Amino acid sequence: MSTKSVSKPLTQRAAWKALGAHCKRISKLHLRKLFAADAQRGEKLTAQAAGLFLDYSKNRVTEKTLKLLLQLADESGLRAKIDAMFAGEKINVTENRAVLHVALRAPRDAKIFVDGKNVVPEVHAVLDKMSAFSDRVRRGEWKGHTGKRIKNIINVGIGGSDLGPVMAYEALKHYSDRSLTFRFVSNVDGIDFVEATHDLDPAETLFIISSKTFTTLETMTNAQSARDWTLNGLGGDAKAVAKHFVAVSTNAEKVSAFGIDTANMFGFWDWVGGRYSMDSAIGLSTMLAVGPDNFGKMLAGFHALDEHFRTAPFAKNLPVLLGLLAVWNNDFLGAQTVAVLPYEQYLKRFPAYLQQLTMESNGKHVTLAGKHVNYQTSPVYWGEPGTNGQHSFYQLIHQGTRLIPCDFIAFAHALTPLGRHHDILLANVFAQAEALAFGKTADEVKAEKVPAALVPHKVFEGNRPSNTILAEKLTPEILGQLVALYEHSVFVQGAIWNIDSFDQWGVELGKVLAQRIVPELESQTAPKLKHDSSTNNLIRRYRKMKTPA
Ligand code: F6P
Repeated sequence: MSTKSVSKPLTQRAAWKALGAHCKRISKLHLRKLFAADAQRGEKLTAQAAGLFLDYSKNRVTEKTLKLLLQLADESGLRAKIDAMFAGEKINVTENRAVLHVALRAPRDAKIFVDGKNVVPEVHAVLDKMSAFSDRVRRGEWKGHTGKRIKNIINVGIGGSDLGPVMAYEALKHYSDRSLTFRFVSNVDGIDFVEATHDLDPAETLFIISSKTFTTLETMTNAQSARDWTLNGLGGDAKAVAKHFVAVSTNAEKVSAFGIDTANMFGFWDWVGGRYSMDSAIGLSTMLAVGPDNFGKMLAGFHALDEHFRTAPFAKNLPVLLGLLAVWNNDFLGAQTVAVLPYEQYLKRFPAYLQQLTMESNGKHVTLAGKHVNYQTSPVYWGEPGTNGQHSFYQLIHQGTRLIPCDFIAFAHALTPLGRHHDILLANVFAQAEALAFGKTADEVKAEKVPAALVPHKVFEGNRPSNTILAEKLTPEILGQLVALYEHSVFVQGAIWNIDSFDQWGVELGKVLAQRIVPELESQTAPKLKHDSSTNNLIRRYRKMKTPA
């Protein structure tokens, strides 16, 4: 079902047309009025799943809007598309691949088939191998080449092979073994590697080379530098590689060619997209940090949300609601971005993680059938933890000219309670959502005896939509649920837009051009340049500037 586009193009579906007309009618309707008209709105427009509570009442929607959005989901074949993903159908049509990150967190006795083969036993075999390895390292049994205990772990990877691991490490730091040092090297800018290693002893350092393809230029360049750094520090004995390098990849051949024994390789599969891989072996650094038990709890959290997504009626389904509201804000209210604002310092890398998840998935300009879309696809996701953002970019969200829907994320308990901090933090997140929705009218400002000239400056129009996601506390389970919530919300949006959310052809052109330019920068003699005049000029200038005077 999902591999074919649904019968009618999106803009010709009845619900889409009705939403367009409805939007015109209610676009001026203010959240103040909506709340005044229904005293229960703040309780009604909420939903709960596993450990997550979603308040979506501060969106510019009426009951009719929600009804039409749910109708749009039906007319877009969302139910069949969800079933197709869980059934292992090849819904990534441009790469002819199944999309089965849900299998990564399926329980041991589950059965999920790809090409007639149950993949769950393989998933658990890798998890078992990761657990055994993690236990050895964490207990100090896995020794470095000189017999020293491993104290430092560096994940080398980029994109999905970096952002998930960094985000999860930061998010779960509270649960991590503080006697181990974790670093993450992603950028091909050598500073990243140099800074990550400058104070470390190679004899105590383990590198995890994480790359689905094991061909990514940045990762391979950093992996080579890691190899050189290790061997230089350990007297040049190539045997040291076996003790200081492990790989996470789908490409055993390339891993072996790099010099890593495939016995020290942790595999995954082409049906796991890079940006959906933090709970595969790509999460090895996470498991090393928090231990196999906590990693298992995170997987259980993912799975709980998967089951909710798969089975809950759409009107109560958190990822469906979040996804449909994103479509409404993006395609009908014209919002171009979404701010993700976790009021939890441990989630400081969550917005960066979401950027790849959302924009690499849904930043597409053609439908599954290759037709140019005539509607907007993914908005730009961005954000920072609260309260920091309040003292920088929130001004624009409150009083700027753009509509920026916000996702606020908060927890009832601090992991490290400190005096009044947590109540003050939570007061701020609730206050921001309230101020955005209801604002402050000119009359309210005038009543404060503000000089007339200042009144317009002090008016807050309000009517700025937001979601608030509330959970008890940031546990491994809750992190899994939160990530799965966004993964599936991305799925819902892609299903409505009828695009392939699981390929990423848009990153290819730049990669190819860079490979062409590298030799032009490195060549001893002036290369014959065949680019446009701007690129040619920049290359010539760079070559001149880098040559010592
Ligand atoms: O360049 C985009 C991308 O392919 C991402 O989708 C992926 O997460 C990243 O590069 C890293 O790829 P790999 O894990 O194969 O090194």
